[in-house]
Amino acid sequence: MVWIDVLNRCIFASERHTEPMSESFETLLQKTDFSHADLVTLLSAEGADKTRLFTHSAAIKKLYVGNKVYFRGLVELSNICSKNCFYCGIRAGNSKPERYMVTEDEVLEAARFALENGYGSMVLQSGERCDERFVDTVSGLLHKIKVLSDGKLGITLSMGEQKESTYREWFANGAHRYLIRIETSDRELYYRIHPHDKKHDFDIRIQALNTLREIGYNVGSGVMIGLPFQTLEHLAGDLLFFRQLDVDMVGMGPYIEHEDTPLFEFKDQLWSRKTRFDVSLKMVALLRIIMKDINIAATTAMQAIDKQGREKALKVGANIIMPNLTPVKYREDYLLYEDKPCLDEDASECRNCLEARIHMAGDEIGFNEWGDSKHFARRKP
Ligand code: 5AD
Ligand code: SF4
Ligand code: FES
Repeated sequence: MVWIDVLNRCIFASERHTEPMSESFETLLQKTDFSHADLVTLLSAEGADKTRLFTHSAAIKKLYVGNKVYFRGLVELSNICSKNCFYCGIRAGNSKPERYMVTEDEVLEAARFALENGYGSMVLQSGERCDERFVDTVSGLLHKIKVLSDGKLGITLSMGEQKESTYREWFANGAHRYLIRIETSDRELYYRIHPHDKKHDFDIRIQALNTLREIGYNVGSGVMIGLPFQTLEHLAGDLLFFRQLDVDMVGMGPYIEHEDTPLFEFKDQLWSRKTRFDVSLKMVALLRIIMKDINIAATTAMQAIDKQGREKALKVGANIIMPNLTPVKYREDYLLYEDKPCLDEDASECRNCLEARIHMAGDEIGFNEWGDSKHFARRKP
């Protein structure tokens, strides 16, 4: 459609530059294996080089995963969390949010909506809790969603670190993808943004990702971009970490400060929001280039900074969107960061909005499909 082309040209107008791209940049981009130093250079791309990076990653996306975007209907199941990550608005130490747990009926209502609207999958996300009652509740929900949808809805979990027996129980009950963001792959930085204690152990978090792989899950991870103390060198390391771990899925987006968290005191040392967004886009593009057939989410945090953030992420390489199905009455209490979008829009409004956004990005929606990572399928014996 012509108007879509016009809109796209508008969105990307700011990225058109007249100066010619350097020849060495093109040579670098065509490499088949990138060193840490190469990735730092690519993350620093500006002007014509940056535009070229984005056209290259878009072409790779088209070639390896096509232009279908898959929906994962997201339910933010509970904001009760036993952890105290220094960046997160629902950390245990913040007494402001009213703590909630979505009821079983509400989750099943969301599942019904997902099914009726052709979303192939759901994501259940929650603060971290490991008590038996919670583990049983999640198992029951998984079972009921599978029954309700006759096995049609794929289910991703994002419930933090659990015992191996819990991961196994949930897998047996129908979850087949699991997300644990490493947040940063640099150990030192990890302990600057988390308490250094048993509950926030870097090695246990990495071990969790390996255990999930052994069990048979599609494994996802991710990082925040533009954290205090973070450099492009850290981010290049994150890209290599994803590749080394051979993840199937990645969700990453800009760090956005939250005033009721300990990291807020460093707000004046952060990159500007525009830079955080810009580097996030480059991270998505580079990840698509180095891990061609994985699933990459266009995350909500991208849209918190830039109104067209998610479309832009789709354009440069992302292929997954997580429309929010959490009942609206809970949304104000799941504010991990400031300016989170879609606080008042219910499931139908977000669906319409996202459909339009996806079409604007020139993609189409993979209705009624799980849309599992091609990378996972390829690795399986
Ligand atoms: N800014 C951006 N992302 C955040 N998350 C938590 N707090 C913030 C923040 N302040 C992300 C983390 C977590 C995911 C659920 O939300 O990466 O894994
Ligand atoms: Fe809890 Fe996750 Fe927030 Fe950390 S990031 S405090 S584990 S909800
Ligand atoms: Fe929720 Fe646009 S995605 S209103």
